[in-house]
Amino acid sequence: MSAASDPLFDGARLVITSGAGGVGKTTTAAALALESARSGRRTAVLTIDPARRLANALGLEAFHDHAQRVEGAGPLWAMMLDMRTTADAMVRRFSPDEAAARRILDNPYYGAFSTSLAGTQEYMAVEQVHALVRSGEYDLVVLDTPPAVHAIDFLTAPDRILGALDNRAVNWLYKPRDAGERGQPQGYGARLLGRGRQVVLKSLDRFTGGPFFEDLASFLQAFSALFEAFRQSSRAVQALLRADSTRFLVVTAPYPGTVREAIGFRAELVERGFPFAGFVCNRVHDARPAASLDALAAALGPHAPARLAEALATALADHNRMAARDADGLAALRQADARPVRVVPLMPEDVHDLEGLSRVGRALMQNFSSADTF
Ligand SMILES: Nc1ncnc2c1ncn2[C@@H]1O[C@H](COP(=O)(O)OP(=O)(O)O)[C@@H](O)[C@H]1O
Ligand SMILES: [Mg+2]
Repeated sequence: MSAASDPLFDGARLVITSGAGGVGKTTTAAALALESARSGRRTAVLTIDPARRLANALGLEAFHDHAQRVEGAGPLWAMMLDMRTTADAMVRRFSPDEAAARRILDNPYYGAFSTSLAGTQEYMAVEQVHALVRSGEYDLVVLDTPPAVHAIDFLTAPDRILGALDNRAVNWLYKPRDAGERGQPQGYGARLLGRGRQVVLKSLDRFTGGPFFEDLASFLQAFSALFEAFRQSSRAVQALLRADSTRFLVVTAPYPGTVREAIGFRAELVERGFPFAGFVCNRVHDARPAASLDALAAALGPHAPARLAEALATALADHNRMAARDADGLAALRQADARPVRVVPLMPEDVHDLEGLSRVGRALMQNFSSADTF
């Protein structure tokens, strides 16, 4: 089975690899993108936290605001998410003109906002991938997801960010000219307004020893102009994540706890209307044929020390115990969902180059026919 006819890619514009931290989301995303590109699709992959050597293999030495062509891998482009670059591009896109964008970008508050507000990384990732899809330059975009503690955080981030910006506590700062329904100023912000907002902010700043509140207020005020654009974009992103052409893969290791978490995550995706497209079970031990101590000793020949055969027999038994445990994990995944599970064996070493990605890619594409549906 090849990527040319894999149902995962059929009619797909966006494939998302999600799951708990360390299970192989970044590796899976890069391997899928490579397979897709090798089958002739113009493919872009947005990685979040690639290991240094993998980033190098994809030609990602630095952050860029556009995807970089990967050499020797078909029509493949890759990019690494950088919060600041993505946030800057968003501010520019949403601002009516360069002067308005500069008022935000040059504000000392902006740096903190763009890189450290909870959920911004997730928000930026979906914004960036939305831009890649919208550009129309790619047949398929593959999105790796951030190492969130709870995978679902990633999907609720746009709503949470909007919620934070909508917070009543900051309302009076960023909407200083808001009036009540009958045109009467109301509330604390309005009272401050009445006393002269700048005067109040200046006196508050005496406590903080610098232009803290003034900067915050002017940041939020400048930012509020972008608020509606943010909202609309967030709605468009939510629609993209739920589109028929979007596929969520849930990546998991075969261990019992991780499998339970993956099954729970699948249920949440389905419940919230995100198009789940199957499990990837990564780092699976293949069962090896059992061999008796005598058979091992015979294979080693008469000159090998006797203890060597014993050590090998123990290693083989350990390996097969792990393979049996992994088989239980796979069985649980298959019971939780009827779609075939994509099984990737544990490789002898880390996956950090195109050759390693090809091996993972082949495993991901194996045993699928176009009769399998999503
Ligand atoms: N099937 C595999 N066999 C061996 N090593 C793997 C396999 N899949 C992933 N790895 C390695 O495990 C580490 C974590 O994988 P990664 O894709 O970065 O996980 P995540 O993005 O989910 O945190 C990486 O060093 C990667 O090379
Ligand atoms: Mg990762």
